Amino acid sequence: MTKILILNGPNLNLLGSREPDTYGSSTLGEINTQLQALATHPLVFFQSNAEHELLEKIQQAPSQDIKFIIFNPAAFTHSSIALRDALLAIQIPFIEVHLSNIYAREIFRHQSYFSDIAYGTLTGFGPLGYQLALKAAEHYLARE
Ligand code: DQA
Repeated sequence: MTKILILNGPNLNLLGSREPDTYGSSTLGEINTQLQALATHPLVFFQSNAEHELLEKIQQAPSQDIKFIIFNPAAFTHSSIALRDALLAIQIPFIEVHLSNIYAREIFRHQSYFSDIAYGTLTGFGPLGYQLALKAAEHYLARE
């Protein structure tokens, strides 16, 4: 069955204790549990601090029945041409999510290597951003 990949980049394993004024108090486990409760499609969860592991997960997605990706690239948002190229290569639509509003923060966070190739972006809504992205992903898949 069609699956949705929930992909999270570096330091997001520290959510809950990491800069709570910026990222809130929910852990990644709590965010994922909320998504699981809302989803009508099977979800695949993956977080890594390593760029090559995220690359491999993206490259494997087409052979794993993954038809949509919800991706918070974290700091790789602002640096990773390799992850951008991987998403372009597999041609699976994705939504870029950020807990914080990256455009209301330091200038170096205003540059994203993903926004112009994403189906959509959600930035600044905290954990709700993932839920909104899931809703949009399922709406997209229902129309396919
Ligand atoms: C982030 C924003 C990035 O700039 C930062 O490096 C992160 C988290 C967010 O969810 O707000 O690690 O992607």
